[in-house]
Amino acid sequence: MNKYTGVIFDLDGVICFTDKYHYQAWKSVADRLHIPFDETVNNRLRGVSRMDSLEIILERYDGRLSGQEKEALAEEKNELYKKLLCNMSPADLSSEVKDTLDALRASGLKLAIGSSSKNTKFILKRLGLGEYFDAISDGTNITRSKPDPQVFLMAADFLGMAPENCLVVEDAEAGIAAACAGGFDSAGLGEAAACGRATYAMRTFADLKAICHA
Ligand code: BG6
Ligand code: MG
Repeated sequence: MNKYTGVIFDLDGVICFTDKYHYQAWKSVADRLHIPFDETVNNRLRGVSRMDSLEIILERYDGRLSGQEKEALAEEKNELYKKLLCNMSPADLSSEVKDTLDALRASGLKLAIGSSSKNTKFILKRLGLGEYFDAISDGTNITRSKPDPQVFLMAADFLGMAPENCLVVEDAEAGIAAACAGGFDSAGLGEAAACGRATYAMRTFADLKAICHA
């Protein structure tokens, strides 16, 4: 029997890998403003909303910017990012991820997305997963970003399930913190597996089949 009734997946870094596109788009904005920006700063942006990401990048900026100027920079980054996302296709969905999702679903689990990204639906469509998930909670329906649990609580609500019956799958420490705060069990990949706070530390995505008894 399944241990859970639903699984809520973070998108970026779990279902697909958009890190390099976020990096290129932010790098172009940062370079224009002569702000030092490297992979170490980029790693801090994982799971963090667009505006909060900008604030992290601006920690190294000497000047002052108005709210309107910040909005314009975030918009500039997003336009570049969306152009880069057009490089994505169903070939960017690994067979390990697709086969695991199919196995979880076949075992009777409902599957949802819980992502801070406002580009979630666009990315899912690029991957050929436009209609795949039973529920989507993303940057367009939340007011508070991870580590706040809002995005996962809303995903569970969209599935009609209680947090204790859902497993959250994350690659970011902020996402594991959000799962804990919301009362969810969590399965971590990469940095989220190493942080010591996830219920399960995964080596690879397919580990979910054993975790969920699927
Ligand atoms: C998260 C990413 O999934 O979405 C963050 O890990 C990103 O790096 C955030 O800042 C918001 O994304 P978007 O697409 O709304 O700019
Ligand atoms: Mg992520």
